[in-house]
Amino acid sequence: MKHNISIAIDGPAASGKSTTAREVARRLGYIYIDTGAMYRAITRAALDAGVDMNDADALERVARSSKITLEIKEGQQHTFLNGRDVSGEIRTPEIDRNITPVATHPGVRRIMVEQQRQLAQNGGVVMDGRDIGTVVLPEAELKIFMEASIEARARRRLKEQANGDPSITLENIKADLARRDHADSTRADGPLKKAPDAVVIDTSNMSIEEQVETIVQLARERQQ
Ligand code: CDP
Repeated sequence: MKHNISIAIDGPAASGKSTTAREVARRLGYIYIDTGAMYRAITRAALDAGVDMNDADALERVARSSKITLEIKEGQQHTFLNGRDVSGEIRTPEIDRNITPVATHPGVRRIMVEQQRQLAQNGGVVMDGRDIGTVVLPEAELKIFMEASIEARARRRLKEQANGDPSITLENIKADLARRDHADSTRADGPLKKAPDAVVIDTSNMSIEEQVETIVQLARERQQ
């Protein structure tokens, strides 16, 4: 008998988690939960409200009062903040620059982790982020830790974000990825860390199809 499992995918910025996780979920008929989009939406809400990014209490209030929903429409992932589709506004250099203080505050993380566990309570989920295998779903039947060289990750991000904007360069992106990797790995609460029982996949020289197939195979073995 097959049973629905939970799949946790963690790894550094732009390692290919979201694209891979979404497709794995589609093939397995599972729900995909992009926790990065949740932290990004809270950052959007905090910027819109003009909150001081060092004011932990104010950020926690923003996190508590924001309703975030994730939906897949025509194969595209959409993120809603209080009913407004913010998908186009959360993957920008402005959010990349401001997300670190938001994702570092333990109060904000507590609220996010609680919501993420609720979304996953019935299993049949693929969730990606930084702390999924270690904090959010430590009981997940399959844990993946996705890595890729900073060169490969920066090239991917440039392709996603540039759109002919000359201010977005490979060097700027590399600097932002290195800064966020460092901040994500060294924070006290929910740091980016490989769970001891995670399978490591280095995607530097892999295609999306290869990444997806590898994880789907592992998932099918563990669904038995
Ligand atoms: O797409 P990319 O890999 O650049 O980032 P993301 O997965 O959308 O996450 C953006 C930021 O949110 C990360 O740099 C983390 O600071 C934060 N994040 C987190 O702290 N915990 C998570 N579970 C997911 C994201």
